[in-house]
Amino acid sequence: PDFEGPELPLTGRHVLITAGPTHEPIDPVRYIANRSSGKQGFAIAAAAARAGARVTLVAGPVNLPTPQGVKRVDVETALEMMAAVEAALPADAAIMVAAVADWRTAGAANQKIKKDGSGKPAPLSLVENPDILATLGKHGQRPTLLVGFAAETEKVADHARAKLAKKGADWIVANDVSGAPGASVMGGDANSVHIVTADGIESWENLPKDVVATRLIEKVAHVLSARPD
Ligand code: CTP
Ligand code: CA
Repeated sequence: PDFEGPELPLTGRHVLITAGPTHEPIDPVRYIANRSSGKQGFAIAAAAARAGARVTLVAGPVNLPTPQGVKRVDVETALEMMAAVEAALPADAAIMVAAVADWRTAGAANQKIKKDGSGKPAPLSLVENPDILATLGKHGQRPTLLVGFAAETEKVADHARAKLAKKGADWIVANDVSGAPGASVMGGDANSVHIVTADGIESWENLPKDVVATRLIEKVAHVLSARPD
């Protein structure tokens, strides 16, 4: 076990986690999605449960077993994920690991879209999805500790700092995914992350995703223990 003793570090706390991709339907057989295995978010949910928290895991479409002691809410689209997250509030800590599709189709077709023989693809019109992390950042029931993730391919720290401010988060956990797809991060078991906060940057290099999860939850517990219920 990661933690021992009668009182676990997150006993009595509610930790809300999003994980996996979202799927945005185009028609009954097609969708837009992000690359995400859900492994890192599920590992964080498992670590939070081991630390004694009540855990709500809002999961997009992934092929992973539910971690022990975790309440899982399955969703498909960003709009469904937004609604499930709001329904799960209040939370002491929210960790938004999901790779939410930034756009959805302006209206999914009820029937499969057919090729019309002209050689020109049917136009696809997109609208922006709500930003779940930013919504929590200015929410009336804002979690005490709000953590976002960011997959970046360049200028990792700069982009993470910008997201911290833009979304009203306390931490952004930045992942360098340059080299994806097929790189070690996406779908793999190891991860190098940079935790960007108002105080600076802490880097954890090339660790298994479950070790990143355990360390992150230790850091969450440390911050929450300094604050009243
Ligand atoms: N996020 C979210 N809702 C969205 C988009 C992103 O909650 N509609 C969250 C992610 O779960 C993650 C963080 O915001 O915790 C950063 O996601 P990212 O895609 O890196 O940020 P974006 O603002 O969408 O920026 P980009 O244009 O780089 O995709
Ligand atoms: Ca995005």
